[in-house]
Amino acid sequence: MDHSLHFLAPPAARPVETEPARARLLGRRDLPALMELEREKWTDVQAASEDQLRERIDAHPELAIGAFCTRTGRLLASLFMRPIADDFYRHVQTWDDCVSAPLPDQSSTLFGISLSSRNCEGVTALLNYFWPIALKRGWRHIYLGSPVPGLRDWRETHPERPIDDYVHATRRGMPLDPQLRYYRSRGFTKIVCAKPRYFPHERSLDYGAILRGTVPLSTLAPLWAALPESCVRRVTRALSSLL
Ligand SMILES: CC(C)(COP(=O)(O)OP(=O)(O)OC[C@H]1O[C@@H](n2cnc3c(N)ncnc32)[C@H](O)[C@@H]1OP(=O)(O)O)[C@@H](O)C(=O)NCCC(=O)NCCS
Repeated sequence: MDHSLHFLAPPAARPVETEPARARLLGRRDLPALMELEREKWTDVQAASEDQLRERIDAHPELAIGAFCTRTGRLLASLFMRPIADDFYRHVQTWDDCVSAPLPDQSSTLFGISLSSRNCEGVTALLNYFWPIALKRGWRHIYLGSPVPGLRDWRETHPERPIDDYVHATRRGMPLDPQLRYYRSRGFTKIVCAKPRYFPHERSLDYGAILRGTVPLSTLAPLWAALPESCVRRVTRALSSLL
């Protein structure tokens, strides 16, 4: 059983009511705030357009989540996901391929289309919010394609070495790359592969690392399916302050 996804373990365990961020599903009314966050966190070539954000919400409204400041209502973080075939990473090359892959008839796998954040408490709130939903629905794995922003500099000093060496390189047990380190601390512990020409990202030389996180306790799928969602939510809330 994988207990490592960080949404089990917010940095300082505290009651949900006092968290500075609260997550909920996104709707079209959130588009202006989403666009503002998108422009802040992504370059012009990387950022989604308003139409693309609207399409993501319309296509999978149950997988479009935002975290908002409980005091000001400001959007702190957004997460868009979509279902994908369990073995999708064997057949895709680019982020576009992942986003446009045919929807599977049956799958327990999600692909993280995009995560944007201006506040780490927001990301914790997003993941904590989604955890019971994932258990109830039977989602087992979440994949995403991460930039590897340390790659360009590493390549300059290691021109002959294969890119895989960098992606899997560790220091004191943690990935060398800062963003892979970030995702490891959020529970995306499995580095599946590195894809060239994945997404425009200069410092990553356009590479993306496909990472996998396992939804904690998702091996008990029949139990979660049988329980009401309110009950699953109570269990995950209690566990997130313990682990
Ligand atoms: C990646 C992201 C979602 C993380 O948001 P967050 O949970 O609020 O966390 P922070 O941005 O504060 O980053 C946390 C730590 O991870 C590290 N990190 C994360 N992404 C990094 C990157 N691209 N380059 C260098 N360090 C990075 C930071 O060094 C930071 O460490 P610090 O606490 O010592 O400053 C956010 O930085 C973001 O929206 N980035 C731009 C878009 C992006 O890359 N999204 C993910 C695509 S898969």
